[in-house]
Amino acid sequence: SPLLTVKVPLSCCLYSQERLRDDRILPFSAFLTDSFGRRHSYLRISLTEKCNLRCQYCMPEEGVKLTPRSQLLSTSEVLTLARLFVQEGVEKIRLTGGEPLIRPDVLDIISELRKLEGLKTIAVTTNGMNLARLLPKLKETGLDLINISLDSLVPAKFEFIVRRKGFHKVMEGIDKAIEMGYNPVKVNCVIMRGLNEDELLDFVALTEKKPLEVRFIEYMPFDGNKWNFKKMVSYQEMLDRIRQQWPNLEKLQTGQTDTAKTFQVPGFKGQVGFITSMSEHFCGSCNRLRITADGNLKVCLFGNSEVSLRDVLRSGAPDEELLQIIGAAVGRKKKQHAGMFSISQMKNRPMILIGG
Ligand SMILES: C[S@@+](CC[C@H](N)C(=O)[O-])C[C@H]1O[C@@H](n2cnc3c(N)ncnc32)[C@H](O)[C@@H]1O
Ligand code: SF4
Repeated sequence: SPLLTVKVPLSCCLYSQERLRDDRILPFSAFLTDSFGRRHSYLRISLTEKCNLRCQYCMPEEGVKLTPRSQLLSTSEVLTLARLFVQEGVEKIRLTGGEPLIRPDVLDIISELRKLEGLKTIAVTTNGMNLARLLPKLKETGLDLINISLDSLVPAKFEFIVRRKGFHKVMEGIDKAIEMGYNPVKVNCVIMRGLNEDELLDFVALTEKKPLEVRFIEYMPFDGNKWNFKKMVSYQEMLDRIRQQWPNLEKLQTGQTDTAKTFQVPGFKGQVGFITSMSEHFCGSCNRLRITADGNLKVCLFGNSEVSLRDVLRSGAPDEELLQIIGAAVGRKKKQHAGMFSISQMKNRPMILIGG
């Protein structure tokens, strides 16, 4: 067959060689790779600063000053940023807040995210108050994973911790998520001494019949949440207590970037996990970036350095400029957080304004 010669401009050759070389050395976006080689493929977007609960460990008693609406990211700004991060290699997006399910356009956002090629997982962290009602639509729209927060199995104590009523609505949301086939449904439980530490075993017992992953989160310090070391119950202490009841608790294998250490009581349907950010941090394998509801990029939950992507977007800057700014922020990410005592002294946002 006759040989076909195709003329390729020299610049194009150089470009593809450059790409080839890049692809071999750096198979992941340089902008999302930090100076320690961590690749940030997981983005958490806070959809709102508002919440229908007032959890003691998250929301300061006196409330928070809300950002004026015009300074929060609009639907299209959220989607523009999501598209950019996914183009650069983000594979998982979690919507959080505040309470993400009170944002009126949450379903539109999920359905647009679903169209992004390369985005493998869309997750939501919710307090579960509106979940039972919204779940059918959330599932239909394409929500893959759900984490539901629940800190007590005793209705009166639940109300004391979250400073609002609603225990039964949350339980209904959890059951609905199981019924709709989410597996595992993750239940986030912040254990605090003197408050709900006595329910640790009850939460583990919940995993006997239900396919839940109950994740015990070490209490973390944020502005206005009155954290102190004595109130924090460490992973090791929780594990010891659970092992007294279930000595054959088995450790499960986890993925490289999983933050939870997971265990199972043999024969139980569900499992338990521990988020040990305070006693055994997992900064070395951190692959997360956060965007706050007012459009700031936060490269570390426990760091107070932020850069406004909203302002860059609103200045009409091209994608390339946004990427340079994102890349510079990621490049400045520290090797690990400063340790719980330093963090507790440091100025940061209250958790509700970060997006957990
Ligand atoms: C800030 S909330 C936002 C999403 C949603 N409103 C909810 O409660 O699930 C995200 C997660 O952060 C956790 N969280 C908030 N403050 C915390 C703290 N001081 N220490 C540990 N976890 C905390 C909550 O329990 C929740 O599971
Ligand atoms: S933890 Fe979630 S539900 Fe509780 S106050 Fe914070 S944002 Fe609201």
